[in-house]
Parts: sequence; structure tokens; C-alpha cells
Amino acid sequence: MTTTARAQGATVWLTGLPSAGKTTIAQHLGERLRAEGHRVEVLDGDEVRRFLSAGLGFSREDRNTNVQRIGLVSEVLARNGVLTLVPVIAPYADSREAVRKRHEASGTPYIEVHVATPVEVCSDRDVKGLYARQAAGHLTGLTGVDDPYEPPTDPALTLPTQTQSPRESADAVYAVLSERGLV
Ligand SMILES: Nc1ncnc2c1ncn2[C@@H]1O[C@H](COP(=O)(O)OP(=O)(O)O)[C@@H](O)[C@H]1O
Ligand SMILES: [Mg+2]
Repeated sequence: MTTTARAQGATVWLTGLPSAGKTTIAQHLGERLRAEGHRVEVLDGDEVRRFLSAGLGFSREDRNTNVQRIGLVSEVLARNGVLTLVPVIAPYADSREAVRKRHEASGTPYIEVHVATPVEVCSDRDVKGLYARQAAGHLTGLTGVDDPYEPPTDPALTLPTQTQSPRESADAVYAVLSERGLV
């Protein structure tokens, strides 16, 4: 009788400020992993808020609900062999910790990556114009400016994207997956 090894999944959570580079890194990494034949899903914060978390706002409670929903989906995917990339701000440490525990409970790998771009660099990039809108008084509750961001205290990896290309950042995440035997 032959047995077929099932692919090992994992959740890679990319936490960081708006414009830190979470989406860009997930896209680069996702492309590389797919090209190598892995099953990959990307649960991007902006897209998820249009369906899974439609109607939720940006209060502490709603942000936590959003993160727990995404954490639930990513754990199910990862437990079933999918490499699940999660570029989502997730500003609160206790929310991220609950997601980690959910993974631990099922023995599913969970890798926290801090996309640690300084707020000044994020504000210069301002991919979606949020920093400008906040500065002009048209928006309040911007993470890292007038809303909290609690940086991870023990991430698997910290990415200083202000000194890296997107490909270098994605390759650094890949290296962690590789070290852990996940790719
Ligand atoms: N090392 C890097 N990693 C990721 N993005 C980078 C890097 N260097 C520069 N950038 C640029 O920073 C911006 C990040 O935007 P985005 O990925 O949408 O951020 P986020 O999803 O965190 O809000 C992009 O324009 C990207 O090209
Ligand atoms: Mg993004």
C-alpha cells in the first residue's frame, strides 16, 4: 500500500501599518510559491472587508472581530494544506495572540511577520492616500497615527522594508518557511 504525503499548510500573518508593504510582499511571495506548485491563498484585509467582514468598522471591537474571522478562515485553510498569506494590519496584540492560540490548538503552523516600516516612510508612500486624508482632517482612527498599533514582541521575522526591495522582503519570508520545512 502506498501513502501520499499531504502538503503541510501554514498561516503567514503579515502585520504592520498602512502602506508598510503587507499586500506587496504577499503578492510576490504568493507568485513564487504558486510557481513552485504550492497551494496558496491570500486573505487581504481590504478584500476581506468587502465580504467576510462587510459592515464592520474600525473600532477596537470591530477590528478584533475582523481579525478573528480572518484567523478562523486562515486556520481552516492552513490545517488543510494551504499556504495562507494574510496581509492584514491586526493592530492589537491580544487579537493576534488569539489567532496564534487557535493555530496551536490544532497543531497548525502560524508564522507572524512584522512588516516594520517606520510610520514616516509609510506616510511618504501613502499608497491609498490615507495619511494625507488624516492630516487634512478628513479621516480619524488611522492606525499608527491617531489609532493604536501594538508591534509584535516576538515575531518570527521583522522586515525593515525601507532598506529592502519587495522581492528581498518576500524572499526573507520564504527563507523562514524553508527553515521550518514548509516549502
Ligand atoms: N521591501 C518592500 N516590501 C514591500 N513594499 C515595498 C517595499 N519597498 C517599497 N515598497 C512599496 O511600498 C508600497 C506598499 O504598499 P502596500 O503593499 O499596498 O502596503 P500595505 O498592504 O501594507 O498597506 C508599495 O508601493 C511597494 O511597492
Ligand atoms: Mg494592503
